[in-house]
Amino acid sequence: KERRELREAQRSAAESAAVTEANPEFGPDLNRAWEDPVAAPGSRHVAAELRGVGAAAAGDEVPEWKRLAMGSAPSFGFAAKDTVPMREQRASLPIARLKEELLGAVDANDVLVVIGETGSGKTTQMTQYLYEAGFASVASNTRIACTQPRRVAAMSVAKRVAEEAGCRVGEAVGYSIRFEDVTSPETVIKYMTDGMLLREAMADPKLRAYTVIILDEAHERTIATDVLFGLLKVAVKKRRDLKLIVTSATLDAEKFSDFFFQCPIFTIPGRMFPVEMLYAREAEPDYLDAALLTVMQIHLTEPPGDVLLFLTGQEEIDTAAEILFERVKSLGRHVPDLHILPVYSSLPSEMQTKVFEPAPPGSRKVVLATNIAEASLTIDGIYYVVDPGFAKQKVYNPKLGMDSLIVAPVSQASARQRAGRAGRTGPGKCFRLYTESAYQNEMLPSSVPELQRSNLATTVLTLKALGVGDLLHFDFMDAPPPQHLIAAMETLYALGALDDEGLLTPLGRKMGEFPLEPPLAKMLLASVQLSCSEEVLTIVAMLSVQNVFYRPKEKQAAADARKARFHQPEGDHLTLLAVYNAWKATRYSSAWCYENFVQARSLKRAQDVRKQLITIMDRYRLDIVSAGREWRRVQRAVVAGFFTHAAKKDATEGYRTLVEGQPVFIHPSSSLFFIQPEWVVYHEVVSTTKEYMREVMTIDSRWLVELAPRFFKVSDPNKLTRRKRQEKVEPLFDKYAQNQNDWRLSKR
Ligand code: CDP
Ligand code: MG
Repeated sequence: KERRELREAQRSAAESAAVTEANPEFGPDLNRAWEDPVAAPGSRHVAAELRGVGAAAAGDEVPEWKRLAMGSAPSFGFAAKDTVPMREQRASLPIARLKEELLGAVDANDVLVVIGETGSGKTTQMTQYLYEAGFASVASNTRIACTQPRRVAAMSVAKRVAEEAGCRVGEAVGYSIRFEDVTSPETVIKYMTDGMLLREAMADPKLRAYTVIILDEAHERTIATDVLFGLLKVAVKKRRDLKLIVTSATLDAEKFSDFFFQCPIFTIPGRMFPVEMLYAREAEPDYLDAALLTVMQIHLTEPPGDVLLFLTGQEEIDTAAEILFERVKSLGRHVPDLHILPVYSSLPSEMQTKVFEPAPPGSRKVVLATNIAEASLTIDGIYYVVDPGFAKQKVYNPKLGMDSLIVAPVSQASARQRAGRAGRTGPGKCFRLYTESAYQNEMLPSSVPELQRSNLATTVLTLKALGVGDLLHFDFMDAPPPQHLIAAMETLYALGALDDEGLLTPLGRKMGEFPLEPPLAKMLLASVQLSCSEEVLTIVAMLSVQNVFYRPKEKQAAADARKARFHQPEGDHLTLLAVYNAWKATRYSSAWCYENFVQARSLKRAQDVRKQLITIMDRYRLDIVSAGREWRRVQRAVVAGFFTHAAKKDATEGYRTLVEGQPVFIHPSSSLFFIQPEWVVYHEVVSTTKEYMREVMTIDSRWLVELAPRFFKVSDPNKLTRRKRQEKVEPLFDKYAQNQNDWRLSKR
């Protein structure tokens, strides 16, 4: 009873705290409008009266559902918990019974593959066991690394383990993710993104700082993990004191073992309850709507137990949360409470902790998560899983020269993994919003590794910096298509990072030091030469964060008007700079952000990123110089990195990219939308109804030839089509051998 009272008191205290703290930085991202889903006619899941209820937005900046979800301030998170149950909880994990065997197996083998159901304790326990067994110590300056494919997982697991170990994060247990290093000389257990370990490998390919490296969630097959596979295979051969553990939630164990010298596979027997599978009878035309109806149906008709719904991204999750909240509210007091908890990578950490807390008695918790909850995060108490069968996937779009995220069907392996989340606490149910035949016949058995479907420029630069000369013969578990490697090398050559022989240039080496994509790194380094690094640092930082502007549904006009005040005639890069500098002039005031419809959290993050970049610049003695008001210098620096993203106004409508002649349009939110200049470069393209360029800047076409002489040349007027003559610039490469009639191929 006492505990319940405490909880109640905490909740009301936290709620009032959340209200006073309400500010736009926690608002939903309405920049990209998600149309309110329309109820699917004849959807089988739920009674008609529930349809379409309450899709309207809440009237204030922080929607009510979100305020409730945020209810628990960080100090109420773990601190209030008793430590004895935690010890019991640890002892009851499936891995606990196998501790000695596991340590024995690590001792006896250089490489070990560990498989086990999610939640069996692999991620949180193995590091602690190894530390306790003396595999690392502060005295010997050695530590245990555990990689995670996702930032959130690295942070939340580090928090959990620090708590179990009775220390603060950053002490014995820490984490390191891009632009955020929470470790100290005391740190012996270090959770980190696989990308960060890869960066560390660039400084020391043998990774001598670590005695044990756990490549966790290896089945995710991120690029960084895949590259680490090849590097660590060499490192374990060279270093007798290094132990490598590769963990996987699923079936790939044999394949991993084969790759790592047929190493033993250590299996942690799962404790799985049966999960009943329910399939849609026919394909759902609108999966979001179907998913929400299913959640409501579960809430109203199924016995107690929490629900986990898989969605594809932040905006979708926020929209779904809003709709669900309104629907439950509209049903009045007879319906039990439904606690709606979003989980996605960019979630503020105080909300992340809340997800792991049990729902108050008599209520139900519904977790709306991206596929981060598929394996990286384990939430206890889930009895029902709703799986629409989709996830966001990165795919390389050669026409636009960049990766884009698209919503695509998941693989059978993912679907099985998702379903499994319902059977951890007791017998569960999984509602698959697709048909059984779609599962059998349309879904791939397992996902295509990221390495085989992404732009490889960053990876190639990293490998080159690691001294891997012959990329085509690097020991990949599954090699990327050679054309992708060659295209990436061509891009790096054009950027000046590689020389004629494909070797890393001094510029390329410096580019590799920055945790940025090659074009951004090049832009920053060019700005040092062009004496505008002060400004370009800010722009790079602002481009690295998302959702700078806040645009609530009810106040769109006001928000747009405010934003327009920052607009610069040169375009969005300089607009971002203007916003940052205006914020800086108020001494980084949050109130200023609120007034100006700018997300304070994003700006603070940009400020952090900027600081981190300055540290690297200082290390390499790169000057930080202001351009004053010479904006052209800044523009040239942007072109030096993003010349492959040049586009020219089309005679009929919109723009065409210079490299592929692809039709693109200026995004309506751009400061250049009403100006429509002749020549532009874009930062990225988002595909919605059209291919929209976001973050667009005007350029002088001559800069292309001047700043990217390996990529463009002034065309020979005697040999040109009329259109060409007007443009007077042409790309040297046609990487994909398409549109040859349009763009003459003329390699040097
Ligand atoms: O890695 P694996 O999926 O095998 O399990 P884990 O992440 O080590 O999680 C073991 C247990 O720790 C879970 O069942 C959760 O109960 C608990 N846990 C938690 O309460 N909070 C976290 N942030 C992570 C894990
Ligand atoms: Mg794990």
